[in-house]
Amino acid sequence: MMTPLFDTRITRLLGIRHPVLAGGLMWLADAPYVAAVVRAGGMGFITSRSSADLPAFEAELARCHALTGGLPFGVNVSTSRHTQVPLMDYVDAALAAGVRHFETAGRAPADDLIRRIKDAGGVVLHKVPLLRHAVTAQRLGVDAVVIVGMECGGHPGANTDMPAMVAGALAARRLTVPFAIGGGIGTGGQIVAALAVGADAVMIGTRFLAGAEVTAHPRYKERLVAAGEDDSVVCFAANPALGGAWRVLDNATAREVRAREAAGMTEHAQFAELTRGTEQRDRAYAQGDVEAGMLSAGAAMGFIERVEPIGEIMAQLMDEARAAMARLSSLSAG
Ligand SMILES: Cc1cc2nc3c(=O)[nH]c(=O)nc-3n(C[C@H](O)[C@H](O)[C@H](O)COP(=O)(O)O)c2cc1C
Repeated sequence: MMTPLFDTRITRLLGIRHPVLAGGLMWLADAPYVAAVVRAGGMGFITSRSSADLPAFEAELARCHALTGGLPFGVNVSTSRHTQVPLMDYVDAALAAGVRHFETAGRAPADDLIRRIKDAGGVVLHKVPLLRHAVTAQRLGVDAVVIVGMECGGHPGANTDMPAMVAGALAARRLTVPFAIGGGIGTGGQIVAALAVGADAVMIGTRFLAGAEVTAHPRYKERLVAAGEDDSVVCFAANPALGGAWRVLDNATAREVRAREAAGMTEHAQFAELTRGTEQRDRAYAQGDVEAGMLSAGAAMGFIERVEPIGEIMAQLMDEARAAMARLSSLSAG
């Protein structure tokens, strides 16, 4: 087992070996994925919204418990998107199953949500795309915040032009709670840089997508390996009513969405058959049709060189982090 390189407020808060959080991934952050991250020394979050109903969610939690061998893992809950099950029911089911680490994403978490988790001895990490939302979340009493830059795969919300590194450096001045930064992170050098500006951890999504434990078709993973840093595209940036900015793989579906946007279409119904989640889940992830569906992915695709176990990606990140620290020492003039 790899010796920990870092001791930060977030490694201590979550009891993890490495300051690496793997954020929720719609359809993909299931038990095998989250357990692989946890066994590799990071913290992963089962995406509650991917479960069709409460029994399916409970079964996923039980599967993860079995796969982690009892190591703690987390759950991701959306505070603004439509969920098949009321948000609080997901939270209660997770607490009942012994989960104590929650990644909330979306609107500022309500008071009763934060209280419910904290009263049960849990930890709330709230993910935001904008610094001012991080400050609000801190005021509301969350334990830590995650700030994602415009580079991130998925939904950077209203953030279409603030990179993670700028947001992180500003966060160090404006926050007192522990924080992580995410968006475009795929090397250990970036982890050291994030910690250097004041962050306590990084959040990674895209870099882990071709992990061997990710439940997705080999053709999808091969597409990620072939993709470079320029192969993502942002849709709906000018249309908050359609969910706001969404960074995805530049495939036929994304190009069709952008063409319709350019033609002036603004109604949800004009995009529905392209953006529905079953396109991603069934056609792309299950069947390997990588032109189908809006496939969240960011600039960190540039770092994906092969399909490999998540433990090996983590080991590489930590080797690179060690090398980055040695490089910094060798540059010291003092
Ligand atoms: C395929 C994919 C699906 C995602 N789904 C969700 C989600 O359902 N909920 C959520 O909070 N974040 C989601 N995210 C965002 C990630 O949790 C994380 O914040 C982001 O990927 C970090 O940026 P990076 O992709 O540049 O590493 C998703 C990201 C990807 C790549």
